[in-house]
Amino acid sequence: MMADALVSERDQVIGMITGAWKTQVIGEGVKLGLFDRLGDGPMAASALASMAGANEDGVMRLLRGLATLGLLEHQPGNRFALTPLGHYLRRDTPDSLNGMTGHWADRMWNSFAGIGQSIRTGEASAPSGIDHFAEQQADTGAADVFNRAMAEGSLRVGRALARAYDFSDCQLLMDAGGGYGALLVGPLEANPHLSGQIYDLPSLSGVATAYQAEQGVADRVRYVGGSFFETVPASADCVLLKFILHDWNDANSLTILRHCHAAIGEDGRILVIERIVPETVSPADQDVIRGDLTMLTVGGKERTEAEYHALLGEAGLRITKIVPIDAGYSAIEARAA
Ligand SMILES: C[S@@+](CC[C@H](N)C(=O)[O-])C[C@H]1O[C@@H](n2cnc3c(N)ncnc32)[C@H](O)[C@@H]1O
Repeated sequence: MMADALVSERDQVIGMITGAWKTQVIGEGVKLGLFDRLGDGPMAASALASMAGANEDGVMRLLRGLATLGLLEHQPGNRFALTPLGHYLRRDTPDSLNGMTGHWADRMWNSFAGIGQSIRTGEASAPSGIDHFAEQQADTGAADVFNRAMAEGSLRVGRALARAYDFSDCQLLMDAGGGYGALLVGPLEANPHLSGQIYDLPSLSGVATAYQAEQGVADRVRYVGGSFFETVPASADCVLLKFILHDWNDANSLTILRHCHAAIGEDGRILVIERIVPETVSPADQDVIRGDLTMLTVGGKERTEAEYHALLGEAGLRITKIVPIDAGYSAIEARAA
């Protein structure tokens, strides 16, 4: 018993050490469109290779790898079928993780390759900063993967937010740095009196509007292009900031918050949607800590509750409540101090 338990713990560590292969193998499966092609039913490895225009032996070995991860089922005659887990990797499926896969196999993969430098210097090691965001959003291919990855997460978080937070006395929700504005969908679906506004860089206007149309709420959402480092339009009584403050150091976060504060005036509110770092972590906190290490490579950080109090306080705001949402996310409500 004892020996088995020891082996099993050791195997868990081996799984952690070698985890990188999974990110790349799943990433290649998505890049070759294998999960989408299998959406209509099982196919032979040879047919998948020819449709993907890739080497038959290489694709066969990739498919076997995906089968060992439980994402595909290996059937007799080297045919492969999607499993329930594999369905999440199709692009056009509800709750898709297709964009997130591309994001992790490329941008995050490269970020983590340089994390040692960030740990030693405390500085960003991956391409980042105000201009870099604008350049990335102007590069259609990179922007598509990044924005879909964000939207896949935010659609779900927004629906959970709508269940957890009372929007009855809000009129216009602005999703600042909202990307496609996926976060707005849940609150708009649940609150017919609400209107939405996405405020993000001008280059996202067309794709964000198309996304809102797909979600069936485009008639209630307006896109406004601009930079939150320059100004935030004074139109909404509630400004949502999801995954914005964690992108930036305190100085840049303060600039954004001061512009949001000016936009909401004395009566509005800001909802910061982030995962909060507990004062003492345990294995249950892996998501927020993974986020924090990711942000370390780009010059941002995840923060503790005390750090949010200090940061918002410096921007002339005070935290009025913190509402747990789902999956470790919280809505930090802040108003003029
Ligand atoms: C990490 S993403 C978060 C997207 C969205 N809030 C979400 O959680 O799904 C950061 C967003 O900030 C936007 N952004 C970056 N710099 C900006 C700027 N200067 N002004 C407005 N938006 C900006 C990006 O285009 C991107 O959509």
